[in-house]
Amino acid sequence: MYAGLLKFISADYLNPDSPTGVLKQMQGAASDSPISFILTSAIEHASLAGIAIAAGELFAGLGILFGIWTRFAAAGAFVLSLSFVLTVGWGTYPYFFGPDIIFMAAVLPLMMAGDGGYLSVESLIRRRVKQDLGINESSVNPLAVDKAIARRTLVQSGAAAGALGVAGLVAGVIGRKMNNANPTTNPTTNPTFSPSGKKIAKVSDVPVGTALQVTDATGGPAYLLQPTSGTFLAYSSICTHQGCLVSYDQAANNFACPCHGAQFDLASGNATRGPAVTPLTKYNVVVRGQDVYLV
Ligand code: FES
Repeated sequence: MYAGLLKFISADYLNPDSPTGVLKQMQGAASDSPISFILTSAIEHASLAGIAIAAGELFAGLGILFGIWTRFAAAGAFVLSLSFVLTVGWGTYPYFFGPDIIFMAAVLPLMMAGDGGYLSVESLIRRRVKQDLGINESSVNPLAVDKAIARRTLVQSGAAAGALGVAGLVAGVIGRKMNNANPTTNPTTNPTFSPSGKKIAKVSDVPVGTALQVTDATGGPAYLLQPTSGTFLAYSSICTHQGCLVSYDQAANNFACPCHGAQFDLASGNATRGPAVTPLTKYNVVVRGQDVYLV
């Protein structure tokens, strides 16, 4: 629910030029996702897919939280989480840093067993319908009674789900209008160098003012930058909030995380916008001849 609301609130989410937008997120994930064939089609309708994802998250969250169509909502949340594991979370290293695996596990019992009638709006409605129909537990025609209860419960649960959905969307739209968060940047720090390590790129691969996607010593995703002539910086691409892959945003001069909007300073790796608070892991790099080494 939180993730869906954040997407509705974000001014960047549907912006095709934003590195935290759904289009760039899909394009970034398409290269190594095992379901890239689905992503490739979805990219053509990125805004529509983005709205569907945000609405799906919101409705699944509301359904689970309030106990309305719980199994259906939990199944939706499971499918959404699985799709995130297979796309934006696929490059997460180690894999268990990815939050979506936990979400899948968390909703699985609700998907299998429903809410059990506890803290559930649907069970309250069901009880009220029983009272309206004058039904007590010792009814002599359970099948007919069950059908009558199910029909009325479905109608009233649908109305409750619709009302909650509208309330959630209204909250999202209001939040979007009120969202004025601005990125900030921090001063610089310098890397330290040592004379051995793994060759990760040629100097000519990283023109001044650009960044290159590389892999670190363990094969994890990383960025190599040359912010000023002869200065090379390298960072892990793994967001320190919950493990999504950050994107390099040359225009904004930062790294941005597509999952929850964290931003990191290029010069220091420090988090300049939450929810992340820990800096990106910074690697030492050294230039030898025409090559750049991670040490
Ligand atoms: S994973 Fe949450 S902001 Fe990056």
